[in-house]
Amino acid sequence: MYNEKVMEVFRNPKNVGEIENPDGVGRVGNASCGDIMEIQLKIENDIIVDAKFRTFGCAAAIATSSTATEMVKGMTVEDALKLTNKKVVETLGGLPAQKLHCSVLAEEAIKKAIEDYLSKKK
Ligand code: FES
Repeated sequence: MYNEKVMEVFRNPKNVGEIENPDGVGRVGNASCGDIMEIQLKIENDIIVDAKFRTFGCAAAIATSSTATEMVKGMTVEDALKLTNKKVVETLGGLPAQKLHCSVLAEEAIKKAIEDYLSKKK
């Protein structure tokens, strides 16, 4: 069902775990399957210097979280807010249609973590 790239990232996900004293935390749930994901960000001068995730979800959720956290590292928060699940899925070479909803988790969790950071900054 999954392509080789997705399977490779799923088998060896990057950025699994927690950040000590994160600057932003985003926790989201997937209404259609009940799975949950948390993304933690370390942000310095509005640049994401580290990103980690923990997820209770399927292979697609793990592969997209790993890829999304890799992609946002080094981005400004402004650019990271523009990262869509579509871009993450493209980077992974595609997902089966019935698994696209899983990729939304990472996008939403990153957005929430940035919102958390911005609200604390105020
Ligand atoms: Fe729940 Fe994929 S089935 S995140």
